[in-house]
Amino acid sequence: MTEPAKLQLDGKSFEFPVIVGSEDEHAIDISALRSKTGYITLDDGYGNTGSCESAITFIDGEKGILRYRGIPIEQLAEHSTFVETAWLLIWGELPTKAQLARFSDLLTSHEMLHEGLYRHFDGFPPSGHPMAILSAMINAVSCYHPDILLNDMHNFDDSAARLLSKVRTIAAAAFKTSIGQPIVYPKPKFDYCSNFMHMMFSIPFKECEPDPDVVRALNQIFILHADHEQNCSTSTVRMVASSGANLFASCSAGVCALWGPLHGGANAAVLDMLEHIHVNKIDLKDYVAKVKDKTSGIRLMGFGHRVYKNYDPRAKILKAAADKILDKLKVNDPLLAIARQLEEAALKDSYFKDRNLYPNVDFYSGIIMRAIGLPVNMFTVLFAIGRMPGWIAHWKEMHDQKSRIQRPRQVYTGYQPRDYVAVDKRG
Ligand code: CMC
Repeated sequence: MTEPAKLQLDGKSFEFPVIVGSEDEHAIDISALRSKTGYITLDDGYGNTGSCESAITFIDGEKGILRYRGIPIEQLAEHSTFVETAWLLIWGELPTKAQLARFSDLLTSHEMLHEGLYRHFDGFPPSGHPMAILSAMINAVSCYHPDILLNDMHNFDDSAARLLSKVRTIAAAAFKTSIGQPIVYPKPKFDYCSNFMHMMFSIPFKECEPDPDVVRALNQIFILHADHEQNCSTSTVRMVASSGANLFASCSAGVCALWGPLHGGANAAVLDMLEHIHVNKIDLKDYVAKVKDKTSGIRLMGFGHRVYKNYDPRAKILKAAADKILDKLKVNDPLLAIARQLEEAALKDSYFKDRNLYPNVDFYSGIIMRAIGLPVNMFTVLFAIGRMPGWIAHWKEMHDQKSRIQRPRQVYTGYQPRDYVAVDKRG
């Protein structure tokens, strides 16, 4: 039994239980703080707040460790597939052969969209951002499958497979719409990632034949993005789910949270930054000086992380994968060279060293995505497809835990009571 935490307030002493996680993380359970003391806590950005207990993903930010359901990310990236990793995250164990085959079949059976849904794409302007389309369309799926609204856990396997399968069909259709090409229907003969490549790159008179190395790289990208505990979008999914909202509504909210440049949107921002440096022939020393200057309003995109104070293990894997895939595809991308030099310059610089700022998952992922022919505005969409198993797993965990609705408090800093003033009497 761990000793309770003691708190002295207003001359009184209070005790709060200490919770210990399976990796020896210690947390003070303050759920009775307000009822016992009348106080609440204030934690800007939640850097010290555990919002839940979770058995899905473990991160040790100091040591640069990431594990899904106990399994190191390095092993999954090397040996697993995205579909297998999705099963692991959602159901907690590596699937048996039979479970994996059944799940793959279920994904195949849900790969098409209802024909009515395809017509929604005509309503978006060609310049519409695919993240906006993705979020809207995920929500729209429930209009065609109203059973989703029931949150019936007996149908959870089916709903989870439906969402995971349809998200790539929607993503590819959003891309095709944005470039004015006809939408390509999925083909059951393909595995998950090959099918995505087919829907992205086939045209009516030429079917894309997915390159196995590209398919492997895509699997790796998706695996590395599949979960990352209580990040902004996952916390959003859990927050929305806590109100009883259905799986599709909750994950559609997750897409919106992911879109921001400080979160999933960083992969596109990294490419824009590298391109900007390249096109304008900016000296890297000057650029590093600029991102260190707080008045510039510019950050080194793809660097830094709230939890990692060490090299992001996902960035390490993606750096090696970028070398491999560019080599295989014989792509000589000047942006890769700039990224490497920028990383080297930043890692030597005391500004970055003192603040423990290292490359994160977004620093090299865009270079791989660009090499395989994806446009920059699809980068965050790929992150969303990859993160879907994590969001689904957290939605399920939240549901299984029968958690209370999430409802943080605040410290009010506004006016004290004052009287309404009629409009003609206001100064
Ligand atoms: N470039 C320059 N300075 C930085 C950077 C950066 N990329 N990141 C953090 N800092 C500085 C920051 O200015 C602050 O300095 P000081 O202590 O002097 O005020 C210090 O480092 C701590 O930064 P913070 O903003 O308090 O850290 P945070 O935990 O709130 O933010 C972050 C984390 C990821 C939002 C931030 O590092 C950042 O903006 N990075 C660039 C955007 C990015 O790459 N985001 C992807 C994150 S990983 C994938 C994902 O989550 O989706």
